[in-house]
Amino acid sequence: MFFRGMEGMEKTLLLYSGGLDTSVMVKWIQEKYGTDVVCFLADLGQPKEEIEAAKEKTLALGALKCIVPDLNDEFADRFISKSIKANGLYEGEYPLSTALGRYLIVEKAVQIAKQEGCTAIAHGGTGKGNVQVRFELSIKALAPKMKIFAPVREFELTRDVEKAYAKEKEIPIPEEAKKYSIDENMWGKSTEEGPINDASKEPPKDIFTLSCFPEDSPDKPVYVKIGFEKGVPISLNGKKMPLKNLVETLNKVAGSQGVGIIDCIEDRTVGVKSHEVYECPAAVCLIKAHKDLEKLVLTKELIHFKKIVDNEWAKLVYTGLWFDPLVESLNAFIEKANERVEGWVKLKLYKGGVQVAGRDSKYSLYNPEFNESVKQKHAIGFIELYGLQQKVWSMVGGERDDAMAEKVKVEQLC
Ligand code: ARG
Repeated sequence: MFFRGMEGMEKTLLLYSGGLDTSVMVKWIQEKYGTDVVCFLADLGQPKEEIEAAKEKTLALGALKCIVPDLNDEFADRFISKSIKANGLYEGEYPLSTALGRYLIVEKAVQIAKQEGCTAIAHGGTGKGNVQVRFELSIKALAPKMKIFAPVREFELTRDVEKAYAKEKEIPIPEEAKKYSIDENMWGKSTEEGPINDASKEPPKDIFTLSCFPEDSPDKPVYVKIGFEKGVPISLNGKKMPLKNLVETLNKVAGSQGVGIIDCIEDRTVGVKSHEVYECPAAVCLIKAHKDLEKLVLTKELIHFKKIVDNEWAKLVYTGLWFDPLVESLNAFIEKANERVEGWVKLKLYKGGVQVAGRDSKYSLYNPEFNESVKQKHAIGFIELYGLQQKVWSMVGGERDDAMAEKVKVEQLC
């Protein structure tokens, strides 16, 4: 017979958030798997009060301890910065806020599980979600021998069953977490479930905490000037600051202008479609500004090819494949392509909209004087050669009007 905290009792590290699934798991794992539980809660910039409240209840639920590392700067410097350089948007819309956080959580959790002598890592993901894919693929890549528990999937738990279990065991669940499934970090907030399941309706106002509704925002625009160095934002309105502070400040400024709400239908890795509402004020602004600066300093070929790479990068990050070597290879390309992404972009934030209101760079390829120096007559030969194949295509296919085709002799072509 083993007792809590006893020598020899196996320990499970629970990837804990304080929401419905993982709060239930603290007790469920002790009861059903017969192991002790160490909670791991990553501070990635979610509200401090939520972290405190979540941490507080774990001991009452029988956890041995709750480890809460501050990963804010690391998240900004190692993950968000890469995503900005890659214009990271899944399916062109979602800034990958939840997805990016998952990989840092696993990196740290694997280290801590080893330090704490845990033989398993548990998570609260369902069999339909992306969480299981991102967590489990990453754990397998970093610690192939680690056992993985996914109780929600293994016991086919639903939110209603979890709520009933929480009631029975007197597990406190925040009201918001009962109604919605929420994930938040400094790169954005994701909300689904509850009333949001009805995708035919506008999401209820009560979910928004980072971005206000545009109609409730001030009647005056706000301008922000973002300075970039090698593709990474380094200053806001002329003031240099670490990326974490810049993101935090911009979340407040842009969020209060109604910027950052993204209501989208999204394709999950397992194939199901989901309806998610995001609030990502800083992410929307920084990706918009970064893309604009790239257009100023990169060549047409590089921009077009990078778009393909960026899309592929976002898909890999979304679908759980951060540790696939392809991501590292794409990062090398993205890094190189960002070498000249330096300068500044000014954004006008107004009633939920983000408009570019000026940009400049010492590497700018846009210069009306260069354009003036182009000799107009040089275009004649260019047009002839550039359109040659298309012209011949029409002729040999008989698609030109007959009278014209008669007149055009092959020798006239060149
Ligand atoms: N759909 C997003 C993703 O897969 C967010 C997932 C978490 N959403 C939530 N409401 N808990 O990255």
